[in-house]
Amino acid sequence: MSKGSVRLEGIVKRHGVTTVLHGVDLAIEPGEFFVLLGPSGSGKTTTLRILAGLEAVSEGRVLMDGADVTLQEPGERDVAMVFQSYALYPHMTVAQNIGFPLKMVGTTPAEVRRAVADAAAKVDIGHLLTRTPGQLSGGQQQRVALARAIVRQPRLFLLDEPLSNLDAKLRLETRLELRALQRSLGATTVYVTHDQEEAMTLADRIAVFMDGRIAQVGTPREVFAQPRTVDVAAFIGTPPMNLLPARWEGTTLAIAGERVPAPAATGAPRDVTVGVRPGDLRIGASGIPARVERIEDLGDTAITSFTAGTRLVKQKTERVPDVREGDSVRLAFGPEATHIFDRATGARL
Ligand SMILES: Nc1ncnc2c1ncn2[C@@H]1O[C@H](COP(=O)(O)OP(=O)(O)O)[C@@H](O)[C@H]1O
Ligand SMILES: [Mg+2]
Repeated sequence: MSKGSVRLEGIVKRHGVTTVLHGVDLAIEPGEFFVLLGPSGSGKTTTLRILAGLEAVSEGRVLMDGADVTLQEPGERDVAMVFQSYALYPHMTVAQNIGFPLKMVGTTPAEVRRAVADAAAKVDIGHLLTRTPGQLSGGQQQRVALARAIVRQPRLFLLDEPLSNLDAKLRLETRLELRALQRSLGATTVYVTHDQEEAMTLADRIAVFMDGRIAQVGTPREVFAQPRTVDVAAFIGTPPMNLLPARWEGTTLAIAGERVPAPAATGAPRDVTVGVRPGDLRIGASGIPARVERIEDLGDTAITSFTAGTRLVKQKTERVPDVREGDSVRLAFGPEATHIFDRATGARL
């Protein structure tokens, strides 16, 4: 069996009377770049710390390569974690920081030197080995933390928002390098972020966390194209999916006083929430009535905001549309671009 498979089975985590994970099940395959995505407070870091062995579970099991590691200490698990804060030792040099995990397990000094040089080269910090963390930029510190994680060649990398302290430009560059590094190492990686764009570009698969539960697991494409709940739909995409209350009767949807074709027929009429991605809306002769509120020209795209009924709706286009603020228009979208969710439960229909 190839190294680095991970299973979480029925993980429950309580802090006193509050339950922060309500039964998390997850299966991560060897070599996967797996992203835990969700809003702040949804349980991502807790899940990662449980994988690292830094946090005990209240219920459930953690399996690595088929073995139950639920009760194992962090040092027994052969995993490496990169924290949001980097957690470097300020009084040690870069070389000492990177080599620390090897020194701890009694590796010979010559072997440590070789492994440190190798790990430092992989993240382009070979020229910084004699400095201390205080003499480094944020981006360089982040690389030291990465090098310290890869120096031991663990079976599992755990990264908690490792790019969140970098400025926007550096974050984009480092994101690409991180992806390339993971590919070249081939190591199973579990990566926490609240940034859906980061998740979409990095992940082989994503688990979307909502309120201590996994709402959906899938490839970036699946999560974007087929969100399983209205919460996932509202969290993914820039801007996120437009959501409108509607009544589904037969093969039509009544939205904002207008009837539009539904993607399928319903049995009994029902109250639903209709979702349409901003890129799937067109201004046309037919469709739901809307008023142009605001036009934002972002250069390579334009975001136009409308009110439709009581809701704010956003459209994303390549060019600025030929309308003016205050205009009354109609917004059309095809049945294939129409997502329907149960109004009460939020589940995709
Ligand atoms: N030690 C703790 N005691 C009490 N509540 C905690 C503790 N650690 C985390 N929590 C709570 O658990 C929830 C999930 O936290 P966390 O896993 O850090 O979320 P995320 O990483 O998705 O932002 C939050 O509501 C947080 O306040
Ligand atoms: Mg967190």
